[in-house]
Amino acid sequence: MSSIITGTGSYIPEDIQSNNIFMKSEFYDTGHLPLEDNNELIIEKFKNITGIEERRYVPSELNNSEIGAIAARRAIKNAGIDPESIDQIIVAHNFGNLVGDHKQSDMLPSIASKIKHLLAIANPNCVAYDIVFGCPGWIQGMIQADQFIKSGMASRCLIIGSETLSRIIDPHDRDSMIYADGAGACILEKGGNPGKGIMSYASQTFTLEESNYIFFGESNRKVAADNTYYLKMHGRKIYEFALNNVPSAMKLALDKSGIPIDKVKKILIHQANEKMDEAIIKRFYRLFKTKIPDGIMPMSIGKLGNSSVATVPTLLDLILNENLDQHHIVEGDAIILASVGAGMNINALVYQY
Ligand SMILES: CC(C)(COP(=O)(O)OP(=O)(O)OC[C@H]1O[C@@H](n2cnc3c(N)ncnc32)[C@H](O)[C@@H]1OP(=O)(O)O)[C@@H](O)C(=O)NCCC(=O)NCCS
Repeated sequence: MSSIITGTGSYIPEDIQSNNIFMKSEFYDTGHLPLEDNNELIIEKFKNITGIEERRYVPSELNNSEIGAIAARRAIKNAGIDPESIDQIIVAHNFGNLVGDHKQSDMLPSIASKIKHLLAIANPNCVAYDIVFGCPGWIQGMIQADQFIKSGMASRCLIIGSETLSRIIDPHDRDSMIYADGAGACILEKGGNPGKGIMSYASQTFTLEESNYIFFGESNRKVAADNTYYLKMHGRKIYEFALNNVPSAMKLALDKSGIPIDKVKKILIHQANEKMDEAIIKRFYRLFKTKIPDGIMPMSIGKLGNSSVATVPTLLDLILNENLDQHHIVEGDAIILASVGAGMNINALVYQY
């Protein structure tokens, strides 16, 4: 028995923020010194490295739980189910609702409880909780839900990935240009056909050297009495770590499924850097001594940036709704979902349509 996706939904903020919004930023290095290059050059380099031209930020009147609820409502509608019939609501995020000038994380109650409230679900047997697993959190939620479904503890789960990173980034760090906001969700249910649905997965956590690659730290600009902490990263280390470890984790998941590489039609990979993703795919296919098929890796990063836990479910929702270029997923396609992020965590999931 495999679990199947019966509905997807996403929330992409309407407000488009092009790279030009950073033209007036004051960027500093990690030693608190102003960068020597002018902003035009910094932005040009950034675009060339990451492929990001624009990103979306949530409007000030919405917070994380509210955008998660919007994506959830769309997934519920798409699945055509009664929300009261959901057994588990699993919400992946990393910073909760970011409120006030001091960017305090409000996770009390959990974002999942807040979303259940917004969805007005009365059923107390619908259990709601959060999962903090870096950017791979949404895929990890899918893995957990699949296990709950397989064990008989649940038959229908709502898995949401929702993040408002625009509220936790350091305005004086050029790496902040990567980040974006958004939410994605899906309904996962007990399926009838063993050849369809979630086939296999792999998850890994690396902490000996890697636990501080993405961390909470001070601004690059030293301001006396500023004790606000921000989302920070060692980008080059993450880049190398991802190239060295994501392809083998993806192979581990695919090998477990028994599905041959030539049956994989799409790879939906976390979007943090276009060149990094291309290099990961290159190394992945090299492990099978196989040529990379055209159009295997749909990209949303150019227009949406890195919305963390929301990236993969949003990508899936866009493709299933025929809203991403020429990309389609049809009955019979095998796809791989993969992610890497704070932890450092990596996961990959193989799904058969
Ligand atoms: C952050 C990142 C964009 C930096 O790119 P990089 O190629 O590794 O950068 P390097 O430190 O090797 O520097 C290369 C050049 O890019 C410049 N550069 C580095 N970071 C930059 C940034 N954010 N914006 C613009 N230019 C940048 C450097 O100044 C250097 O310029 P030079 O060649 O003229 O001297 C890249 O490492 C990255 O995307 N890493 C992965 C991030 C990620 O996956 N995060 C996970 C989030 S879940």
